Amino acid sequence: MIPIGFLGLLFLLLALYCGIDPFKHSAISEFPDFESYKVDLPPWELVPADRDKDNLLQKSEIKFLNQVQGPESMAFDPLGRGPYTGVADGRVLLWDGQNWKDFAYTSSNRSEICNPKPSPQSYLPNEHICGRPLGLRFDKNTGDLYIADAYLGLFKVGPEGGLATPLVTEVDGVPLRFTNDLDIDDEGNIYFTDSSSKFQRRNFMQLVFSSENSGRLLKYNLYTKETAVLVRNLQFPNGVSLSKDGSFLVFCEGCPGRFACFYILLKYWLKGEKAGSTEVFAILPGFPDNVRTNKEGEFWVAIHCRRFTYAHIMGLYPKLRKFILKLPISAKIQYLLQIGGKLHGIVVKYSPDGKLLQVLEDSEGKVVKAVSEVEERDGKLWLGSVLMPFVAVYNLA
Ligand SMILES: *[C@@H]1O[C@H](CO)[C@@H](O)[C@H](O)[C@H]1NC(C)=O
Repeated sequence: MIPIGFLGLLFLLLALYCGIDPFKHSAISEFPDFESYKVDLPPWELVPADRDKDNLLQKSEIKFLNQVQGPESMAFDPLGRGPYTGVADGRVLLWDGQNWKDFAYTSSNRSEICNPKPSPQSYLPNEHICGRPLGLRFDKNTGDLYIADAYLGLFKVGPEGGLATPLVTEVDGVPLRFTNDLDIDDEGNIYFTDSSSKFQRRNFMQLVFSSENSGRLLKYNLYTKETAVLVRNLQFPNGVSLSKDGSFLVFCEGCPGRFACFYILLKYWLKGEKAGSTEVFAILPGFPDNVRTNKEGEFWVAIHCRRFTYAHIMGLYPKLRKFILKLPISAKIQYLLQIGGKLHGIVVKYSPDGKLLQVLEDSEGKVVKAVSEVEERDGKLWLGSVLMPFVAVYNLA
């Protein structure tokens, strides 16, 4: 038998270690002001349990392996060329049918530090210098490409590409720190998200661990050049997409009181008597990234992982979460704990009124380990991923 006193001493030493973190081994050691916030979790029974038992995403074709690193967003221009995608070294690339060509970039200060590296993660230290394009959208009328660069802000580049022009770098005196995704309406309004004004993209795991709420949904007008904050105090707002009729937009919100692996799709009314108000569009089965509309006006949402018991408990007890985050365990392992132990891709489709229509997944993470965006085009889903060195293509037929 181990004496109680000994266990008590052990616990005391552990608590002391976590309090001081002398070797700076914890996932939050670089963030002395790190705070964790409580998460108001909707009940389990509201979370869709629908599964794709056949793991259909495993039938996806892996394309462009090691030719593209971390292609988050997939876009086609109004002439049907593409896809275009933003990669980890800061470039926006264009697939011309035979090769990937340099199309555009956001940083005016690119140098050899932005040169090719072995994995999407190896670019992290220099992303603020080389740029990191996430959301991409074409203006269907002008062919201009709009780019949400995680570090540098909102950009525009003409149909011929080249160095993009910054449109917004700060709003209300608060710099954009994690510009994430955007969409454009027919009236020259660009709706976009800034995921956090505290954590940058390279620290997205700490943002998830914290559940802090400095994220914003913003609107930039091309003609007045003014930016308005539509919704503030959001926890990790991410993808954004207008409805087909333009009467509302949906955006992914992580953690407004919701911890990792548990997110909600919100609906923000743009027109009609509810204009300016926000309501729940759908409760998602897990941790979302971008959302895109197809021709029918349905929404495809990329999900990083399913909701998981561990994340649920951690969401409810922020002090316990902070304690565990102070243990000498790397952010990557802490993150894997949150998402159920392994990366696995899920994509879900919702009707324009928020009904879950389809679930496709690779629950074993064999082929599609992670999905950041789903772009439906001519019966195919183009699956981008910020973590992977390839594009996966799933044939819907
Ligand atoms: C340009 O990049 C270099 C690193 O390659 C950095 O030292 C320098 O501060 C950058 N200049 C600006 C204006 O950002």
